[in-house]
Amino acid sequence: MTKIGQMTVGSLMGRLSGAGRRRDAAPPGFPTAGLDPLTERLSQHKVTRIALSFLDANAGLHLKDLLLDAATDDRRVVIDGHTVWNFGSDSFLGLDRHPRVHDAIRDALPEWGAHNGASRAFSSPVLVDEAEEKLARWLGVPDTFIFPSVTLANIGLLPAVTQPGDLLVVDRESHDSVHQGAKLAAAAGARLEVLATPEPRALEKLVAQSGCRGGVVLAIDGVYSMSGRTPPLAELDATIRRLGGIMYVDDAHGTGVVGPRGRGAAAAALGSLDNVLMVGSLSKAFSCLGGFVTCTPELKTVLKIRSSTFIFGGPVPPPYLAAVSAVCDIMMSPEYDLLLAALHARIRRFTDGLDTLGIEHHGGDSAIVSLVVGDLEKTFHAGRNLFDRGFYAQSATYPAVPIHAGMLRVQINANHPLEAIDGLLNALADVWQESRLPRRGRAVTR
Ligand SMILES: Cc1ncc(COP(=O)(O)O)c(C=O)c1O
Repeated sequence: MTKIGQMTVGSLMGRLSGAGRRRDAAPPGFPTAGLDPLTERLSQHKVTRIALSFLDANAGLHLKDLLLDAATDDRRVVIDGHTVWNFGSDSFLGLDRHPRVHDAIRDALPEWGAHNGASRAFSSPVLVDEAEEKLARWLGVPDTFIFPSVTLANIGLLPAVTQPGDLLVVDRESHDSVHQGAKLAAAAGARLEVLATPEPRALEKLVAQSGCRGGVVLAIDGVYSMSGRTPPLAELDATIRRLGGIMYVDDAHGTGVVGPRGRGAAAAALGSLDNVLMVGSLSKAFSCLGGFVTCTPELKTVLKIRSSTFIFGGPVPPPYLAAVSAVCDIMMSPEYDLLLAALHARIRRFTDGLDTLGIEHHGGDSAIVSLVVGDLEKTFHAGRNLFDRGFYAQSATYPAVPIHAGMLRVQINANHPLEAIDGLLNALADVWQESRLPRRGRAVTR
């Protein structure tokens, strides 16, 4: 068994799982000698080593890589024998539990099977055409183009929408997959610049300094996934268009919950999606699987030729394509208004409660509300304290946020009972009091 410092690889993996049920060493007799040297070598890398020691020192505290043993319709989950309200789900509208979504998956299964087993560059079930057409109808755009995930969309599309001589500006706070896609675009010859702050004047300066004579693309999130905040998309769009460029908005967290009929943060800010590339998620509010980009049929033909994750990757499985169409039907029906009203009522109840407690928070225009805690350890402690009181929220820590900007990231869902929201507020009041966490102004007594 390989040793890392005082720890064996096996005991290390057991601690990382935090759950105590995962196998913490290879079964007796199972050969490990082939992989142990690789594990040991990778574990010696500076950042990996620091992360491993931190996780080891805080085993049981950090609540990462959890195993859920059970889940209920009203967003409770069982973890390690502990039943908690789950405030860590991206299924913002509760559609993962919707009978029409379940029926769509169940009905498509016998006809199309679990997977069609081919790259879309070769063939696709007609369900993909129906889903892309319905998404376009819902969004009021000429066409859409589906990928198996938003990550694969960003990695395939950013090199596809730029070429040598072009400038690709990436907002620093964008999702990791936007940065990864941008690196591939740069490797293919585009010039890459990082926008330190999402301000129109900073953008203008960056573009002017680049001396670029080709196309210009600004890649940015519609809703920042950790803080829940939205950048000034209207101002940035006006600037980039004046400079002859186009904005590419990863609106994963805005899709289905922000803007008119849930068309997203870009649609809310710009009034339409006519002059922007909007990437939406089919895995969050949609509760299905995949991502998509808005486009025209002509642009789609070009993007199909230029996107390597489309050409060389697999598809969204057919039952999930059927589910996407079912969700589009819901989005365009009166039922959507009820779901959105339920979600907004819960978000408002929560943010009003935080204001009463004087707890500083970001977001709330989408279903993400992030509570400002501070450094890494305090954030993990706050998350664990909350968990012990029966509520699970994600600790957003470095490197997802700056080192002293740890946050508790709460995701409100339309199917959270009001008592769960109120219970969370009470638990937060206790955690903030006990741990003397930062407050905004003076707290009002509840
Ligand atoms: C802004 C943003 N983009 C992309 C992703 C990744 O999406 P996917 O899981 O579909 O790859 C996320 C996931 O949380 C996200 O927040």
